[in-house]
Amino acid sequence: MKLALISDIHSNIESLEAVLADIREQGVSDVYCLGDLVGYGPNPREVIDLAMKCKVCLLGNHDQGALFDPEGFNLGAERAIFWTRQQLENSGVDPAIQHKRWDFLGELPRTHQQGEFLFVHGSARNPLNEYVFPEDIYNRRKLEKIFALIKKYAFQGHTHVPGVFTEDFNFVSPEEIGYGYQLGDAKAMVNVGSVGQPRDGDPRACYVILDGEAIQFRRIEYPVEKTIEKIYGVPELDNFLGDRLRDGR
Ligand SMILES: [Fe+2]
Repeated sequence: MKLALISDIHSNIESLEAVLADIREQGVSDVYCLGDLVGYGPNPREVIDLAMKCKVCLLGNHDQGALFDPEGFNLGAERAIFWTRQQLENSGVDPAIQHKRWDFLGELPRTHQQGEFLFVHGSARNPLNEYVFPEDIYNRRKLEKIFALIKKYAFQGHTHVPGVFTEDFNFVSPEEIGYGYQLGDAKAMVNVGSVGQPRDGDPRACYVILDGEAIQFRRIEYPVEKTIEKIYGVPELDNFLGDRLRDGR
């Protein structure tokens, strides 16, 4: 099994295109997306159209917010979701294409289990909304409960912070392990990071290649200033949503 795992694209078409080009260069054809196609960024339609080509695509909390009523989002994120919904509703394009996009979003599953591998957006306990942050290694009860629900390995996104959680309450970031990790006998939770809005201080797009039990974190440069300019150009998208891309925060 050789897969590319992408997550949290957030309507950033420049980063998604750069990542998909890198995936092709790596000779990987199966792409799994762990959700949050939209929200925050300027190109929801284009991102959805590319995501339709993924072999597996899960629902993220921002996708659900665009489909239904956004709940639990901060003001900037909520405004972005309403703007996203507008983009998907009246773009002056063929209504059949619009319907196809809504249907695609509406039918996205929340989890995907494949043998020993579980794929979710948030966590095994709450696939859509639960964050598992690096500092949760100090919250043993939380990690124990989540690990108890995992057969062997879980792959997730949502926090935009890539790395590996081990059952002995450790977290390692990609830099600490030379961007590579070998899955073993112990359970593991792998956060694949974010394609379109990294928040670990590295502004490059992040994704993971899973080859058998070997994990490789990849960081990809993309024309971030182009995305930022587009965000600045949309009044409904807070300028901060552009600024944070520059710093990866
Ligand atoms: Fe996200």
